[in-house]
This record gives sequence, structure tokens and C-alpha cells, in this order.
Amino acid sequence: MTDTIATQAPARSVVTEIPGPKSQELLARKAEAVANAIPANLPVFIESAHGATFTDVDGNTFLDLGCGIGVTTIGHTDDAVVAAVREQVGKLTHSLVGQTPYEPYVRAAELLAELTPGDFKKKSFFVNSGAEAVENGVKVARKYTGRGGVAVLEHGYHGRTNLTAAMNFKIAPYGNGQGPLASSVFHAPNSYPFRDGLSGPDAAKRTQWYLEKHVGVEELACLVVEPIQGEGGFIVPADGYLPAMQEWCTKNGIVMIADEVQSGVCRTGTNFASEQLGWTPDIVLSAKGIAGGMPLAGVTGRAEIIDAMHSGGVGGTFGGNPVSCAAAVAVLEQVTSRDLNGKAKHIEEVITGHLRKLQESYPIIADIRGRGAMIAVELQTEAGTPVSAGPIAEAAGKLGVMVLTAGADGNILRFLPSLVITDEQLDDAFDVIGEVFREVASA
Ligand SMILES: Cc1ncc(COP(=O)(O)O)c(C=O)c1O
Repeated sequence: MTDTIATQAPARSVVTEIPGPKSQELLARKAEAVANAIPANLPVFIESAHGATFTDVDGNTFLDLGCGIGVTTIGHTDDAVVAAVREQVGKLTHSLVGQTPYEPYVRAAELLAELTPGDFKKKSFFVNSGAEAVENGVKVARKYTGRGGVAVLEHGYHGRTNLTAAMNFKIAPYGNGQGPLASSVFHAPNSYPFRDGLSGPDAAKRTQWYLEKHVGVEELACLVVEPIQGEGGFIVPADGYLPAMQEWCTKNGIVMIADEVQSGVCRTGTNFASEQLGWTPDIVLSAKGIAGGMPLAGVTGRAEIIDAMHSGGVGGTFGGNPVSCAAAVAVLEQVTSRDLNGKAKHIEEVITGHLRKLQESYPIIADIRGRGAMIAVELQTEAGTPVSAGPIAEAAGKLGVMVLTAGADGNILRFLPSLVITDEQLDDAFDVIGEVFREVASA
């Protein structure tokens, strides 16, 4: 499958050591001026990016299988997004929507109402980041239910604010040494088919039993769930898990919130991952891919839940900035015009084909999973000991392929390319990854 945007982008090419001399100079300046808490996992400075590649200050061009962790879903510097941003920035960069509204905010909300699962009346509001969307989803659910408890699942990730750090499964590095973290957050077992072997209904019974006994349903305002867990390592729950949990939430007056910050906006081959997993959430949170790289996050849900919040109870100075909203409209209008879901499904076939071939030679690839352009492998020895994915990602980076790691045990390689990546670019990337597996296996 070809895409005009991606084919205009430069090919992978490594022309210096990684990092090159200019990146090394900038890394030294960064060390002096930038907080140590901000790492550089692939230690090169990006100069420009287009489609599925980016080019660093030394002229090295990388195939991007990370997309800034799932943000540039329709490709870097997408033509329509760039045009929309240019036009909007010349007209209006800020007004504060609650003071004097503007049309792109309304249009972005209309598009989210159309594209999110469920044919009931929906409403939206916008904030600046995924974590802020999670915070606001919880606020709305608390106001609607009059309850305080927040349930989350093991292996989940929701952000780095005080509340969302308390909601994450992994404490390090997101919240350790930063407490006290928010209270009234309860972690329940998830569905992790590769590790627990449970059917969806059985895994749901286990989650429900835990929350009923440990928390009490009458305490719970919401259950916040990633339909496919991102940082956890692209864990797809067993069939029937999510619908069973939604049914239980509805029966018990609990708002069930889909954190689709990473899995949303055509990443997995449907507009939102929930719909292909048979789940119609009460609230859907979107961010990352929604605005082509501009900072924006949406909270979209059943109108009666969203409207339970009083005027002024949510929002903020920059949330739903006009330029970000214009970018979101340019992205969301392409969902159908470019068959982005078809592209994601095709990418799934190509990537899993490559991974299955690799698995024949490297049995440390213990599980291949995910949907669309959100595919991961879990690495472990035959005895079940996790094998770190870090060295593989690092070696691939040095050869011009950016890949990400994930998982509580750091043993998951995740592939999150943009939907405009071509088959040729994927073939090239997986040749490199094959080379790296060969090196690691013979080391
Ligand atoms: C599922 C999920 N929720 C929330 C967040 C937090 O988003 P942000 O980094 O924009 O605050 C992320 C970020 O990776 C995420 O993957």
C-alpha cells in the first residue's frame, strides 16, 4: 500500500555515528540547562519530520515506529494539518473558550460525537493532555455519581499528574518519591490472556469480585480502563471482558471510562479501539493522535453525564486552544476520507507477518499481540523469565529505526508507526530489527 505523503519523505539513512557530532553538542547543552528528569532515550536531536520518517541535526534519517508515542498517527507534518494550523494561527491563536467561544472547538466536538462509539447523545470538552483528560473524566464521573472511588486495572497507565500517577500500575518512574499520591484509587486485576489464560467472562468475574469485596460498588464513581493497555505492553483483553465490565458498571451505577489516549483515532483499525472489542463506554478520553501533534485532549461522553458538571467546573486557560482544535478538525475529517482504519488493518497484517517469521528463529518472541498499527511482542526465555527489550530498541536506533519498549518488566517491544508508513518502509524497518535480533541472539 503506498501513500503519496510517505513516499515523498526521505528514506532511512544513517550518515554519522549515533548520536552524531551536532547531537552530541546539543546533548551537552541539554545536560546544563534541562532538568535531568527529561531523558533522551534515542539521543539525537530532531530537525524535521514528514510522513513516517524524521531527520536529525546531523542529517540522519530514521524510520519512526514510535510516532512520539502514538501521536503523529496520520504522519508527521500531514499536509492538511499543516495547512489548517497555518490558516488558524493567522486568524486567532487564543481567546479562552469559556469567555468568547470559536467555531473549531464546536466542530471538533461534533466530529468526536460522530466518531466515538454509541449512538446516544454525546457532548465533549477539551483540555491539554492525556493526563488532564483522565483527571477530568474522573471529575465528571464523581460529580455525576456523587461518589469518590476510582477503580483502575493492573498494568494500566494514565499519566503523570498526582491523581493519574496514583492510577498507574507501575510506581517507578512516574510517582516514586513524589507522594503522597491521590487517595481513593483502587487497582483491580485486569484481563491479560497471555499471562492468565482466563476467558473474558472469567477475567471479568475476577475483577468484579475484587472490587465488590475490596472496595464496595457503592463507593465507586468510575472504572477507568484502556481498551488496549498501552504502556502495559499492548495487552488486548480476552473477548467479552470489556462488555461484561460495562454491564456490571451500568448495573451498579458506576461510570465506565475508556482511556483511549493511546488507542484512539484509528490507531487500531476502528475509530476507537473500544468498538472492535464490543464495548460502548460511557465516556471516551482521546488525546495523542487527535490533533496531528498539536496539544489537545478530549473528554466525550453521554450528554447526561458530561452535563452533570456545573458551569466553570472544568476547563482552563489553554484547553481547546483554537489552533489545536483546527488541527483536530483536519485530522478527524480524514478518518473517513483517507480510510485510515483500512490502513491500520493493512499495517497489522504486514507487521505481524514480519514478526511471525522472526518468531520462527527467535523463540524469545513469546507473544505477538495488538491491533492495527499498535502491535507488540513480549520477550521471555523458555522458562518464562522476562528478557529486556531495551538493548534491542537501542541497537535498532543506532541503525536508523526508532522503536519503543513497554511493560511492567520492560520486556515488551512495541510498534506504533504512523498510518502513512509504506510496505517498503516496514520491510526495511523489519530487516533492521531482524539484524538486531541476530546480534542479540549471538551475543
Ligand atoms: C493510555 C494513556 N493515558 C494517558 C496518558 C497520558 O497522556 P499525556 O502524556 O498526554 O498526559 C498516556 C500517555 O502515554 C496514555 O498512553
